[in-house]
Amino acid sequence: MRHERPESLRWHTNWLAAFTVTAITTLSFLGDATASVAQEADGVTYSLEVARILQDNCQICHQPGQIGPMSLTTYQEVRRYSRRIREQVSTREMPPYHYDADIGIQELKGDWRMSDEDINTIVAWIDAGAPEGDPADLPAPIEYPAIGEWRLASQFGPPDHVIKSQAWDVPANGQDLWWNPEVPSGITEDRCIKAIETLPSKAAHGSTHHANSQFQTRNERGEWVNFGRLSEFAYGKLGEVVPEDACRTAPADSQVRWSIHYYPDGNAVADDQVSVGIWYHDEDFDEEEAYPQDLTLYFLQGGDFDIPPHGKLMTQGFHSFDHPVRLDSWQPHMHLRGVAMSMEVFDPETGRREMLSQASNWSAGWNHSHIYEEGFQPLIPAGAVIILTAWYDNTANNPHNPDPDQWVGTGQRTTDEMSHAWIAVTHLDEEGYEKLMAERRPIAMLLGGN
Ligand code: HEC
Repeated sequence: MRHERPESLRWHTNWLAAFTVTAITTLSFLGDATASVAQEADGVTYSLEVARILQDNCQICHQPGQIGPMSLTTYQEVRRYSRRIREQVSTREMPPYHYDADIGIQELKGDWRMSDEDINTIVAWIDAGAPEGDPADLPAPIEYPAIGEWRLASQFGPPDHVIKSQAWDVPANGQDLWWNPEVPSGITEDRCIKAIETLPSKAAHGSTHHANSQFQTRNERGEWVNFGRLSEFAYGKLGEVVPEDACRTAPADSQVRWSIHYYPDGNAVADDQVSVGIWYHDEDFDEEEAYPQDLTLYFLQGGDFDIPPHGKLMTQGFHSFDHPVRLDSWQPHMHLRGVAMSMEVFDPETGRREMLSQASNWSAGWNHSHIYEEGFQPLIPAGAVIILTAWYDNTANNPHNPDPDQWVGTGQRTTDEMSHAWIAVTHLDEEGYEKLMAERRPIAMLLGGN
């Protein structure tokens, strides 16, 4: 492991800015940094190598008008910040994607992490005095996605159904604002979702930091109860495509409960609405053949907990199913004292315990949903136990801690704590489980398994 937890966790130096700025999930746009040609340190120049790495990994946020605190689009800008860039990149604080690189499943969709090679190139370049090189070698500028337009439309056309939040006036200035309206979904029959995208308005795109939405349906007593997560938006997120063999249901006669976090950016926007677009599977999609998938939250330590002043706490949650499942994504959720979370699986049949995912430098400023690549989603046999473990640090060593003298309990406010993970689960039967296992066997053989 990179560092021990939780004592020696490293932090953003600018935590409060991070928290108010955004929570983030998948940003497919960044993609994987393509492998760079290895170079001698003294041969690396900004124009030839470094500009391309910053284009691929940084500029979507670090350009004028975006959420990064400074622009990193010209040689002069980058040179000016080179010392901080060196520190942020070599500690893997930037790009902000805190998922351990040396343990658990590494195949993630929309993974922002930089390759070691690109990190080494940047560090070597700065250590060599950050030479500019020949501007003629600069890569062509890249086009960033248009603001205010459905990005999945290029793949699927316009969405089949759009749900908008209730209008709300975003002020020009002020503190964080939360807006939690409930609106009818307008969905009249159960349908299988193919893809989902949340879209802030063009006018408020700079102040809409995140927006989550949840389906609710009525129980027997007619009360609205949570049905499952509809979508989640955080700056830069592209949206989510449901695996092809799974059906995530958009329920009829439902309502959508929004949780929108605005942070005023200087522009007042009247009657702002956030939209969520849904693409359904085609009519000929074989629902009978598909396995149901849902995105729901799994608690750690179901009841209340308190963290003493200057104290630490570990919480755990254990979950198992009476049928086999496939885990499609994992997203830790904690607040300011949360510092790390992991997800393991323990199979009582074999006695094996395995780490699936761990974020040992987690921070609430950057909430990623880690979506496993097709073919790498963990397959969990019936009866195996999913073990979620979270670590909290209420000492002064936690630079995100607003007040180590406080007792911290569970609750909704940012300064309260929470302990759960959002997990997208595809519910299989034995036949489906065996089939998926069989498809994976060739991979195991390649890795020397049997
Ligand atoms: C998804 C958006 C995003 C991406 C991608 C991103 N940054 Fe940042 N960066 C931010 C935000 C927001 C902050 C300020 C809050 C914080 O530090 O977390 C920041 C802060 C920084 C800081 C200043 C930290 C300080 O000293 O206060 C540096 C340096 C930096 N980023 C460099 C980079 C580099 C280099 C890359 C690419 C390798 C990168 N960032 C990618 C959003 C981003």
